[in-house]
Amino acid sequence: MKVRLLGTAAGGGFPQWNCACAMCAACRTGAPEVPARSQDCLAVSPQGTDWYLVNASPDIRSQVVSAPCLAPGPGPRDTPLRGALLTDAELDHTLGLMLLREGGGLSVWAPPAVLHALGERFPIRDTVARYGDWHWEPAGVSLGGLTVSALGVSDKRPKYARGSTVDGPWVVAYRLADPATGGVLVYAPCLATWPPGFDELVDGASCVLLDGTFFSPREMTGTGTSTAAQHAMGHVPIDGPGGSLERIRAHAGSGTRWMYTHLNNTNPVLDRRSPEYRRVCEAGVEVPEDGTTLNL
Ligand code: MLT
Ligand code: MN
Ligand code: ZN
Repeated sequence: MKVRLLGTAAGGGFPQWNCACAMCAACRTGAPEVPARSQDCLAVSPQGTDWYLVNASPDIRSQVVSAPCLAPGPGPRDTPLRGALLTDAELDHTLGLMLLREGGGLSVWAPPAVLHALGERFPIRDTVARYGDWHWEPAGVSLGGLTVSALGVSDKRPKYARGSTVDGPWVVAYRLADPATGGVLVYAPCLATWPPGFDELVDGASCVLLDGTFFSPREMTGTGTSTAAQHAMGHVPIDGPGGSLERIRAHAGSGTRWMYTHLNNTNPVLDRRSPEYRRVCEAGVEVPEDGTTLNL
């Protein structure tokens, strides 16, 4: 299985357009230790010919244009992109579908609650239907030959669907396995907690891409957001008791590569000169840049 990390930042990207914090400012100066990051999503492919997005970020156009594996051809409108698998209905993971409307006939697979939200609450489905014949289906057990398992990880609805009474799960994590190579990727960019069943989902994985939105439970106070409001955003912090780093340590020696993605612009790990970045590295966890490729 081939994997390309198209983007590795949380919603808003890094730097965020309306953020004047020290890290966003350092990033704008082009400091090599503070690389810019676009909004989180992936491209995966069983053999390197047909490609599938996992989430579709608002940065999808530049992400596709800068990925050689996603270049169009040989026919004038041929594309190796077959569709997109969604973990949730958040805008940073779905707005990109609108921007792919020039491609007729793409498929979208998602949990039923997410398909519902994109049909009723935020009508992406109706909108792209006016441009081409897309297919919308509940996420199944196969993605172009990769074996897919999903674990429901929370019922957090996007703000635009807050009042929805549709049953979840609203957010899932995926395990993608390549039967040909034995390679396994787990993608979990939105984890409110380390949920029941997650240790089993990552068992034997070659690589786990994990929610790295926040380093600490209190890091948004500088932007006027309370600790309670940060907690309600539904992202387990990296650090502290119950944080993801502690749970990753319990898997030491398993041979799994761990990586953080979906980094928020407040996360000090974005700056490679920070003690927090060193802590993550010392724990053996990677913080890959946009454009990183994996062969699993
Ligand atoms: C999240 O990851 O919590 C959401 O994407 C937040 C948002 O962009 O509304
Ligand atoms: Mn997000
Ligand atoms: Zn900032």
